[in-house]
Amino acid sequence: MAGNINLVVCDDAAAVAREAARRFAGEICARPGAVIGLATGSTPEATYAELARMHREEGLSFAGVSTFNLDEYLGLDGTHEQSYRYFMHDRLFRHVDVQPWNTFVLNGKAANAHLECQAFEQKILALGGVDIWLLGIGGNGHIAFNEPGSSVDSRTRVVNLTPDTIAANSDGRFFKDAAEVPRCALSAGIGTIREARKVVLLATGSSKAGAIAAAVEGDFTTDCPASLLQDHPDCTFIVDRDAASGLKSA
Ligand code: F6R
Repeated sequence: MAGNINLVVCDDAAAVAREAARRFAGEICARPGAVIGLATGSTPEATYAELARMHREEGLSFAGVSTFNLDEYLGLDGTHEQSYRYFMHDRLFRHVDVQPWNTFVLNGKAANAHLECQAFEQKILALGGVDIWLLGIGGNGHIAFNEPGSSVDSRTRVVNLTPDTIAANSDGRFFKDAAEVPRCALSAGIGTIREARKVVLLATGSSKAGAIAAAVEGDFTTDCPASLLQDHPDCTFIVDRDAASGLKSA
């Protein structure tokens, strides 16, 4: 292993979700006012379902929790079904007791997107920083919308999506046609993410095996944005066997 990344290999995607939810629930129980970072995409959906179940059946409360999401498409407002605000409302927020005013998702329709990015960073600082940030990973190693080449100290900003990412997000799971996918997004930077006290990255399926191997065992390089977590003091990757299949050490 090239860095400090803790690796947890689970049998399958369901076990990844249970392990991730257990860790986030642990943070919330230890600190009811926890500040948690969230991701969208297919990978965390089962984790959100498990957190919702824990709220319903085990009394896990989000009443004091604040949330920050990694990213949002530029030009989509929160009522658009493919917006990340809509996704979060649908998959998690409406199922738990989080206060809507404590959920921070970048506004893709902000009159000034650059000011919106600055205000997002300021809000994180004002709440004392993110305690634990949940991430997914792209097949090219991206985290949030930090595509290869993004710098280690990048901050929340407007970014261009790569053709790979546009194709991945229009494979029928989300957008049906590449032409519908916005070309730009607002995204937390790698520097923003690295400042979280804990980072938990999830990956399932063989399409992530190359990115996981590069991130965990490859060089610390902007060619693979997730590798820039290697020197984080508390970073854990929770992956299933398929996503671990490219690792020499697993
Ligand atoms: C989403 C995000 C992206 C995804 C990544 C993987 O907020 O920031 O980096 O985590 O594209 O997406 P899935 O889970 O759909 O494979």
